[in-house]
Amino acid sequence: MTGASKGIGLAVTAALLAEGARVVAASRKQSPELERLAGNNLLHVPVDLMDPDAPGEVVAAAVRAFGGLDILVNNAGGPPPGETLPRFSFLDADDTAWREMFEFNLFSAVRAVRAAVPVMLERGGGSIVNVSSVHARQGTAINVDYGAAKAAMNSFGKSLSEEFGPQGIRVNTVSPGPVRTAWWTDEGGAADVLAAKVGADRDAVMDTVAPEMMNLVTGRLADPREIADVVVLLASPRSASTTGSDFVVDSGWLKAV
Ligand SMILES: NC(=O)c1ccc[n+]([C@@H]2O[C@H](COP(=O)([O-])OP(=O)(O)OC[C@H]3O[C@@H](n4cnc5c(N)ncnc54)[C@H](OP(=O)(O)O)[C@@H]3O)[C@@H](O)[C@H]2O)c1
Repeated sequence: MTGASKGIGLAVTAALLAEGARVVAASRKQSPELERLAGNNLLHVPVDLMDPDAPGEVVAAAVRAFGGLDILVNNAGGPPPGETLPRFSFLDADDTAWREMFEFNLFSAVRAVRAAVPVMLERGGGSIVNVSSVHARQGTAINVDYGAAKAAMNSFGKSLSEEFGPQGIRVNTVSPGPVRTAWWTDEGGAADVLAAKVGADRDAVMDTVAPEMMNLVTGRLADPREIADVVVLLASPRSASTTGSDFVVDSGWLKAV
């Protein structure tokens, strides 16, 4: 479970623990919320996923601690360390920004899958859930590099499901729309950037401005637990016939049928 200390990853970690799973939680730092979940079934591994060796270290830690791996959730993603989104134009991101975006959102997942697949095959299968974004499907002028990285993630997941499905590994993608997490709520985060752009205050941005700008059918940003429940369903054998799918949980943002 990557990006487990906050937001969607924290909600997935809590939901997996509630279902009786043993969880290896990867993030750079602990968080008070993750510490509150501490127990025999939870191991925090402090890693920086911008380091190419980190995903393999997380999988190795799972094997050492719990004897194997049945589920991999590639959730860490969004703005790479030190970056703030949204960016409003393609011209705002140079090569370095594109590379970091792909390192964080795509290559960390590619490397985690590379480490996890042999371990899963040894146990006869498993479930991989990649947390993508509706930006993978909906092109906009905002966050062009992010959308491209997530579209690549969707393609990557579909291809993996074709190759490893016959050997018992299911691969699915969950694509959230806007979710009320640190990405939005942190000081200097997305809500503050939008607030400065439109001249509103940050709470108004999250409560009304952003839902109206994005024409969200539900009228609100999603709660991380609403994404986590879908991830956990896809991780579990209750979705044994679901693979190669992309589940959109976006408050009705996408308008295509
Ligand atoms: N929030 C949204 O509106 C939204 C919408 C669509 C898709 N998504 C996707 O959902 C996923 C989770 O987003 P979120 O909003 O829940 O994120 P978040 O609240 O910002 O949390 C990010 C998590 O990733 C960890 N992380 C950040 N940089 C890391 C690094 N270099 N190495 C290891 N861990 C790192 C953070 O912990 P540390 O800081 O301690 O490392 C934290 O646990 C992402 O893939 C994102 O693209 C989010």
